[in-house]
Amino acid sequence: MADKARMAVFISGSGTNLQSIIDSCVSGAIPGEVALVLSSKDGAYGLVRAQQAGIDTVVYRRKDFPDGKAADEHLLNLLAQHQVDLIALAGYLKMVAPVIIQRYRRRVVNIHPALLPKYGGKGMYGEHVHRAVIEAGEKESGVTIHVVDEIYDHGDILAQEKVPVFPEDTPEELAARVLKVEHSLYPRVLKELCEKILKEKNR
Ligand code: GRF
Repeated sequence: MADKARMAVFISGSGTNLQSIIDSCVSGAIPGEVALVLSSKDGAYGLVRAQQAGIDTVVYRRKDFPDGKAADEHLLNLLAQHQVDLIALAGYLKMVAPVIIQRYRRRVVNIHPALLPKYGGKGMYGEHVHRAVIEAGEKESGVTIHVVDEIYDHGDILAQEKVPVFPEDTPEELAARVLKVEHSLYPRVLKELCEKILKEKNR
């Protein structure tokens, strides 16, 4: 009987969300473990966090493969080797290939630092999101966790939490307020998903 769901976390940067996921697995708040951390960037600080926690890491860049099919196959093999049940995107700046989404249907989730469907889509990442929210004069922003489908920032919304936007906010200040919420909301959603996966696995 499995007692922990196996997650892969995909990152491109500092990995503070990854850290909150690792910590929640270690404390038992999430009935899961991070089996693999994949980074689209060499040198991402999240890789250091993963290594410090003794988690397998890989730098995965599609341009390193002769073609898309070879890149897809490599990733599918990696995920299978690590017996991954669930993929959590946490600051991952690349599209996930359709073949992966099909293989892990409704088992790929993403965190976005705004209230989707507003302020999503291509180019809407990091500071760009918070700057757009402030420039539009929004009174609130927040965090969205959603299922990943074939369209950018599009799949079913699993959870949202709001934060206020103050008139004098800089993008950095708003980002920090949003990030704080991300660190508690993502583990809560992953807990539920891992519980669901375990129920299915142990049926
Ligand atoms: C977060 O704001 C997340 O919502 C977005 O990218 C940022 C990643 O931050 N997708 P970190 O790497 O987890 O610190």
